Amino acid sequence: MAAPKKTMRALQYDKYGGGAEGLKHVEVPIPSPKKGEVLLKVEAASINPIDWKIQKGMLRPFLPRKFPFIPVGDMSGEVVELGGGVTNFKPGDKVVSISFPTGGGLAEYAVAPASLTVARPAEVSAAEGASLPTAASTALQQLKAMGVSSFDGSGSVAASTDNGPKNVLVTAASGGVGHYAVQLAKLAGLHVTATCGARNLGFVTGLGADEALDYKTPEGARLQSPSGKRYDAVAHCATGTPWSVFAPVLADTATVVDVTPGVAAAARSLLQKVTFARQRLVPLVLVPKKEEMEWLVELTRQGKLRTVVDSRYPLSRAQEAWAKSMEGHATGKIVVEMGGEE
Ligand SMILES: NC(=O)c1ccc[n+]([C@@H]2O[C@H](COP(=O)([O-])OP(=O)(O)OC[C@H]3O[C@@H](n4cnc5c(N)ncnc54)[C@H](OP(=O)(O)O)[C@@H]3O)[C@@H](O)[C@H]2O)c1
Repeated sequence: MAAPKKTMRALQYDKYGGGAEGLKHVEVPIPSPKKGEVLLKVEAASINPIDWKIQKGMLRPFLPRKFPFIPVGDMSGEVVELGGGVTNFKPGDKVVSISFPTGGGLAEYAVAPASLTVARPAEVSAAEGASLPTAASTALQQLKAMGVSSFDGSGSVAASTDNGPKNVLVTAASGGVGHYAVQLAKLAGLHVTATCGARNLGFVTGLGADEALDYKTPEGARLQSPSGKRYDAVAHCATGTPWSVFAPVLADTATVVDVTPGVAAAARSLLQKVTFARQRLVPLVLVPKKEEMEWLVELTRQGKLRTVVDSRYPLSRAQEAWAKSMEGHATGKIVVEMGGEE
């Protein structure tokens, strides 16, 4: 019988900066799951902008916790070993996990916390599962932060959002987070205006957006709804939009949930809070939750939530996936598949 494998292929970087070329192919020991962790044979991992923002040093000195660092937290795989105290999984289980900020996903094996690991049914592919944890959870938490509480697909605004928004804007609706936000907003029965580049206008209406705006046109830059609607809420997934652009297109009472807030946005948010402003900017930082991941996987299984994969790469070409994410022009999600065609 062949001896069990002790090392694995992985990509890691050993200093801040360097982009895709800073990622090096290495052969390193397979990690051991500690208490509360599972060891996965990784099948797919998806890259999020936070992964290369950490490499750029944008969360310096907190992340990464140490060098060298194997990046990427969103993954699907098969459980091969359980750490102490883990009783709800067994070897052979197919799962979806997020190991943020520990990372480790750009490898053949990775450890993940059992508390943020959920079962992946056969109907949900490894690529779909790996795409969900950060992007879809962020979209879901954006909608919840607007006051949306029901996603029953009835299309009935009144039923789901008596106190919540009716008209919403999703910016960067063609991206990883935005393409889920459009679909979740439609499941909540909202009227959705979406911004994206010209090439993706049909893509976002295909996801269910009621109207779409090219962000490079003057109307798009002003976020002006083609039908003249004012927004009760905005799922803001693009970067660098000043408050002066939002204010004229918002309803009298409105919430902009911003997942890319800069210093000016944070200051604006604080000022609005202390002055009890009715138009509010709310910064949001994802806090992953197991029950939300389970719900998103189930929605995918039922065919109600679609993951659009922009591009797939084998581990041997993961630098290309990294570069593609850094370019900022993905339509949907960028996935690295460990068993993929080399
Ligand atoms: N706060 C949190 O916890 C949290 C969680 C997840 C993500 N985020 C952040 O949210 C942002 C979006 O993440 P993502 O994964 O969705 O990124 P992504 O997939 O890389 O987004 C790329 C897409 O955004 C579109 N886009 C870029 N600028 C745009 C603009 N001004 N207006 C309309 N569309 C625009 C691009 O269209 P074109 O190709 O046509 O330009 C492209 O399709 C990132 O900055 C990420 O770091 C934050």
